[in-house]
Amino acid sequence: MKALWRKQVFDLVRPVLLALALSVSFQASSDSSAVASAHPLATDAGIDILKKGGNAFDAAVAVTATLAVVEPYSSGIGGGGFWLLHIEQDHRDVMIDGRERAPLAASRDMYLDDNNEVIPGASIDGALSAGIPGVPAAIEHIALNYGKLPLTVTLEPAIRHARTGFKTDKHYQRMAVFREKALNASPEAAKIFLKNNKAPEPGTLIIQSDLADTLSILAAQGARGFYQGELASKLVTSVVKNGGIWSKEDLASYRIIERTPVSGNYRGMKVISAAPPSSGGVALIQMLNMLAQFDFDSLSQSGRTHLLTEVMRRAYRDRAEYLGDTDFVDVPVDRLISEKHAKTLADSVRLDRATPSDQLRKVAVDANKATDTTHFSVVDKEGNRVAATLSINYPFGSGFVAEATGVLLNDEMDDFSSKPGVPNVYGLVGNEANAIEPGKRMLSSMTPTFLETEERIAVLGTPGGSRIITMVLLAALEFHRGGSADSMVNLGRFHHQYLPDRIFIEPDVFSESLVTALFELGHETSVLDSTFGNMHAIVFDRKRMKLDAAADSRGGGTAAVLH
Ligand code: GLY
Repeated sequence: MKALWRKQVFDLVRPVLLALALSVSFQASSDSSAVASAHPLATDAGIDILKKGGNAFDAAVAVTATLAVVEPYSSGIGGGGFWLLHIEQDHRDVMIDGRERAPLAASRDMYLDDNNEVIPGASIDGALSAGIPGVPAAIEHIALNYGKLPLTVTLEPAIRHARTGFKTDKHYQRMAVFREKALNASPEAAKIFLKNNKAPEPGTLIIQSDLADTLSILAAQGARGFYQGELASKLVTSVVKNGGIWSKEDLASYRIIERTPVSGNYRGMKVISAAPPSSGGVALIQMLNMLAQFDFDSLSQSGRTHLLTEVMRRAYRDRAEYLGDTDFVDVPVDRLISEKHAKTLADSVRLDRATPSDQLRKVAVDANKATDTTHFSVVDKEGNRVAATLSINYPFGSGFVAEATGVLLNDEMDDFSSKPGVPNVYGLVGNEANAIEPGKRMLSSMTPTFLETEERIAVLGTPGGSRIITMVLLAALEFHRGGSADSMVNLGRFHHQYLPDRIFIEPDVFSESLVTALFELGHETSVLDSTFGNMHAIVFDRKRMKLDAAADSRGGGTAAVLH
């Protein structure tokens, strides 16, 4: 009788208990906010804007603009990027595609000589290598559509750091040494970023007065102030005078695109990531889908490393064949991220043997390029999130600063395939999907990502060229295992990208016995001299309502939680 009574009461209160449990386990907001970025001044700028009542989107605008000033070797208003936004009140995710576009006068073979050979440096150094920037348009779009504060407030920290200067560090010096030649080819760039034509010693003050004026115009007039009028004329005149092919129409017609992110599911973890023209989200979901075909967790360390290598190999092969700007070419995104496709690819994986890449269908792959990029993550107390990966491509981009603007231009044109469809020395062809076309966006590897389980949410991404996607994969698996933001960003890394057919490993990450076991399975390995990546992640624990933010110890960035 007593038991029956208890059951009746339980049946009555069960819906209430269930609703309560759900509201706790799916909680998306807390009383804290967090910012993690590659430079302390950029993290501080984001936190300041949150303190002033801004939301995550306002903070993202401030961080984007500040990084453009204090991390000029990684991103800038002369560059582009992808901002993955989660708008909590609408339960909506959107990707702001502020990727650079090829100028309207660009052509498929513009970087080839009369013998059909790639002209060394032509897509890397100087004004001809620059795509039409997307960052100014993206900043305005995010502020107007998602933020609460005006650009005059959110751009203030960036303008201040450009006007009064910031101090360089050892990393700046290394990057400037790497690009000394390109920077010296542009008198404006050499004046701003070098000292006596040399990479400055750490602690040198870099003042960017012209950039402060340009940012002030952007703050007062919005994107129109950059893409039209006097500033646009200055940019075009300077680019054309220095061998570039920009026109006023290129700038006036630039538009950001709101895209639906790609999404997938890995053993109860939802993955939301960058859509084309990034290859990042598609390849990430493909790799996770393939892994889900195996009992990954039951494998030995060498078995897991082998399997990860095999799924990386297959996803990067597909990347080279199919991925490009979906506004210009048909990319079979749904097929690539389908379980059916993953099953087909997984069927060719042998757990006891490496598949040599030349046994898979052949396609050309661009060499791993020395790109520099940046990633930051923001979460606010309303539960809004931003994962943003931004780039000007090579360290200091093209090395070219347009006269009297302070705008350092990207060399993102190098992310196109300069020589598509032409068999290379190995007889490989491919990259048609990423051939240069006027107005087209070049393929990217940038992978800003959200991960969601019932218990936790992660906001993450990293720079690192073609290695970005595998770094995000390893961090996603760490998150899935229950790892913290700190362990996600500081995990040892390895990478395989189909070609070259070799596993690249950070120093001190694999034991000798692991390398031997991989060799016995048929893998070539290379332990690199230095680490790679600079990941910034935030993890939200939905049950404890706690935010945890981390900056990669490989870089000089910071993470801050505001209570
Ligand atoms: N420029 C680096 C990337 O977009 O992947």
